Formats: sequence, structure tokens, C-alpha cells
Amino acid sequence: MASRDFSFATFSQNPFYEALNARLVAMAEPSSGQRIVDLACGTGGVTKLILEQLKGARDSAIIAVDHSAFALKQAMEELKAHRDSAVQFVQSQVEQVSESLKERADTVIFCNAIHYIPDKDNLVVEISKALNPGGKFAFNTSFYEGGQVPESLQFYRKWMFKSARALRREYGLSPRRADKVESRKHLTPDEYRELLERNNFKVVRQVEDTVMVPIEGWLDISTFEDFIIGTMPGVPLKEASASLQTGVQQTFEEMNITHVPRNWLDIVAVRV
Ligand SMILES: C[S@@+](CC[C@H](N)C(=O)[O-])C[C@H]1O[C@@H](n2cnc3c(N)ncnc32)[C@H](O)[C@@H]1O
Repeated sequence: MASRDFSFATFSQNPFYEALNARLVAMAEPSSGQRIVDLACGTGGVTKLILEQLKGARDSAIIAVDHSAFALKQAMEELKAHRDSAVQFVQSQVEQVSESLKERADTVIFCNAIHYIPDKDNLVVEISKALNPGGKFAFNTSFYEGGQVPESLQFYRKWMFKSARALRREYGLSPRRADKVESRKHLTPDEYRELLERNNFKVVRQVEDTVMVPIEGWLDISTFEDFIIGTMPGVPLKEASASLQTGVQQTFEEMNITHVPRNWLDIVAVRV
């Protein structure tokens, strides 16, 4: 059950994360007078960045879409200060976005969620139906083939080992491997390009960048429900989250590091 304690809001406010999403929003070049969809808007962090990029332009329409009623409620609260601007909130699966929108959009921005979608061809077809011809689709993700920097693998191994040990020692619990969410196949940057090109899009920008994630990022991702369930299946959220945080603190100390690198992929494509 979603709760405020384990929502995405805490992580999404990390400055490094806001900066990389702001970069994608800038690359999509949304302009005033357009209809812009913030797909999988979560708790509204990216919606706010779009509003900032448009300088609150009142003649633009921003449609923030997510399937989580809880995330949408939090997003509405977060964006209260911007209520003059036209932000509409729509509860929908991204896989049905074209049916959920009243009119076609000029730009679809989809941050950090494409890796959740199993049928990506269907998704891209839906997005092309949701866009006007010439409209833009911009997305980013760190969960692609190449997202994990090879030098960081030791960090992940140590982190998971220490977290499982803390969970056992502090709470007498262990993850239930049988409950593990099946991990989805990650696409390479070239596979993303091919996916877009076979579905009516032309890629106009493609950037891969290494982001240095500080300890705060790892501590905060340890409070996000989806991440906790993926790494510690079957464990109550509170105990799992605390153990992941203990594990990351011990790992940073033992490895004597201040940041862990992670790659992000940004793609902007135009509907042809
Ligand atoms: C990691 S958060 C990203 C939020 C925001 N876009 C950002 O980058 O800060 C992923 C979001 O995707 C939403 N989501 C995942 N699968 C979805 C689906 N099939 N349809 C609609 N929303 C989905 C989740 O509810 C969550 O809010």
C-alpha cells in the first residue's frame, strides 16, 4: 500500500536528480502555447520543472499522467503554488495514454519510468497516437543496458550484502527470494533507437552521461517503495528501508567514497 513515508517525493528532490531531469526538459524544448504531457509524473517533480522551463506560461497546457492515485494527490499538493497555470492531472496507465487524453499533445516527457513498461512497442505506438505530427517524445532512464558503471559493481554487491546482514541482525528477517519481482530486460541505447525508428519516430538527440550520485541519493532511494520491494522482496517496508540505509552507510565508509557513478540515457525523438 502506497504511503507518504515510502513515496518517491523524497528521492525526487535530490539536486542531482532535479538537474538531470531539468536537462531532459530543456532538451525537449517545450514552448509556450503547447500541450505538454508529463507522463508518469509521480509526485510532480518533473511537472514543476516543465512549469519553470515555460516560466509559468498560462497559455500552455500541462497534463500530468500517472496510474497512482496516491502519487497524483501528492503532486497536486506539491503544485498548489502553481495553481494559476493550467496543469491537469489524469489517472491512467501510460499504455493507454492516447485514449486518456482529450486532445493530442505537442510534447510528451517521460522521466525515469520507461524501464517499468514491459511492452515498449505498444507504449511507443500509444505515444505516437497521443502526439501531433512533428510532436516530440523525450525520455530518460538509468535502467538500461549500460546504466550501471562497471567500477560501481563492487559497491552494489557490498551494499546488498551489508543490508541483508543488518536486516538479519537487527530484525531477524530475510528477503523472500520467491517474492522477487521478475526483473525486466533492459534495452541498450541502440535498441531504444531501433524501437523508436520502427514505430514512426526519428531520433533527434541521444545523450549518455555519467552522474555522480552522493550518499543522500542512495539513502533516499532506500525509502522508495518500488526500490525496496525490488531489492528486499517480502520484507516489511520499514525494516527493509532501515537496513538498506545502514548497508549503504557502512559501504560508503568501508570503501571510503563520497559518490557512486551511474549512467543516464536521454533521448528526444520526433513523430514523423
Ligand atoms: C520512478 S517514478 C518517476 C517519477 C517522475 N517521472 C520523475 O522522474 O521524477 C515512476 C512513476 O511511474 C509511475 N508508473 C509506473 N508504471 C506506470 C504505468 N504503467 N502507467 C502509469 N504510471 C506508471 C509510477 O506510479 C511512478 O509515479
